[in-house]
Amino acid sequence: MKRTKILLDADVGIDDAVAMLFLAGRPDAELVAVGSVHGNIPSDLAAANALRLLELCGLDDVPVAIGARRPMAQPLATAEWVHGADGLGNIGHPAARRAPSNESAVEQILRLTAESPGEITIVAVGPLTNLGLALCLDPSLAQRVKSVSVMGGAIVHEGNASPTAEANIWHDPEAAQLVFDAGWPVTMVGLDVTMATRLRKQQLDEIAAMGSTRGDFAHKILQHYLDVYEKSFGTRECPLHDPLAAGIALDPTYIQEELVRDVGVNLTGPTRGATIIDRRPWYEPSGKPLTRVPMRVDSDRFVADLLNALR
Ligand code: BDR
Ligand code: CA
Repeated sequence: MKRTKILLDADVGIDDAVAMLFLAGRPDAELVAVGSVHGNIPSDLAAANALRLLELCGLDDVPVAIGARRPMAQPLATAEWVHGADGLGNIGHPAARRAPSNESAVEQILRLTAESPGEITIVAVGPLTNLGLALCLDPSLAQRVKSVSVMGGAIVHEGNASPTAEANIWHDPEAAQLVFDAGWPVTMVGLDVTMATRLRKQQLDEIAAMGSTRGDFAHKILQHYLDVYEKSFGTRECPLHDPLAAGIALDPTYIQEELVRDVGVNLTGPTRGATIIDRRPWYEPSGKPLTRVPMRVDSDRFVADLLNALR
């Protein structure tokens, strides 16, 4: 089986962790490296969590590099209230035996894509600071990457970090605009599809009953996340933001409807961090780089595949 080489860039909180457990359980994925970034939690803690997850999954040879500790043009803001003080639902999982590597996450992106040009798919499920910095250092990076699957943005759906902005874009709008303008094949997996792709009671019960390492860990860390989402949904269920971006990186046929547009990121005023595309039927391409923006996905098939990977 041909395996997709994945470089994961993540602010390893709870749904990032579930995305890692998903990738670890997929025979068609080869996780080549992880880079951390600020966002849900500080970047150093995100790297420590990535190491915890890799150790749990027996992936001890996958390197983890620490990435950007702050956004490009605004102060650091973190979201421990969503992911727990430790970013993993406060379950007290012990630290990994391994330490992060000596290079930065930005250097790691540049090095691995230079070693394997055209082979690496980047799955970016945190703020896009590392990708933006890597593009600033070496704009030719865009020609060396197979594709980029970003969890971020919202088109019709309201924002989650502000009334109009999705969290990963809100954390570093300037970096996001660099990524959408770089001219590489980008898919923006936003709230329009991730909010509709959820774990509900039946699947949570199935995960609880699996008795597998990945399933048990997912079930433990998800409790904190479910507590948070239960307050807004009124039912004990949660969206699968980062896992869906990882899933689409491996299998774009989950996408059932999409728009292919240039994406603008609002950089000023109260809608800073909002992602904007032209949805008018008479839209004509402006010549700017285009991004795939899924608007509907096969959530049932993806959730079933996620459960299989956790098993
Ligand atoms: C995104 O923000 C973070 O809280 C999640 O990990 C996900 O990447 C959802 O908006
Ligand atoms: Ca994330």
